[in-house]
Amino acid sequence: MKKLNQKSLDFIDDVIYRHKDEKGPIKLMLHEIQNELGYIPFEAMEKMSEALDEPIAKIYGVVTFYSQFTTEPKGKHVISVCLGTACYVNGSQTILDLLVEMTGAPVNGTSQDGVFSIDATRCVGACGLAPVVSVDGTVFGCTKQLEDLKMLVLDYKKEEAPA
Ligand code: FES
Repeated sequence: MKKLNQKSLDFIDDVIYRHKDEKGPIKLMLHEIQNELGYIPFEAMEKMSEALDEPIAKIYGVVTFYSQFTTEPKGKHVISVCLGTACYVNGSQTILDLLVEMTGAPVNGTSQDGVFSIDATRCVGACGLAPVVSVDGTVFGCTKQLEDLKMLVLDYKKEEAPA
């Protein structure tokens, strides 16, 4: 397991300090930590457990219950492919396979170069655009925008390629 740097540890301490006396502090803290670091490191759960006097298992339970939290570091660009019914019948599996091939990231994992993560998700509530893919939060309705999506992924690959 990679050790967190001092800046990340200080950030976690600050988040805990700011929220520890609020109502429902666990989710507030986890949201900020997830947004800043891209995942919830074990050290964060340890520090929260100590500060809130709650068992780590309780915090870990919250992390694993909500799909927006992850204990694995994500890639620089996060691609989510909806596999809900409307998206699936409109070809999202084919798009997912294409993205896996283009990025080298496995489904629900991160590419070895750390550039891309791919998540397979359930319905994201945009069925009218099915099949739906989002890249770093930008939504693509892929029937019309598949070429745009491919270009974006290729651009990111080029940007990150060693010179
Ligand atoms: S099924 Fe994909 S957005 Fe609803």
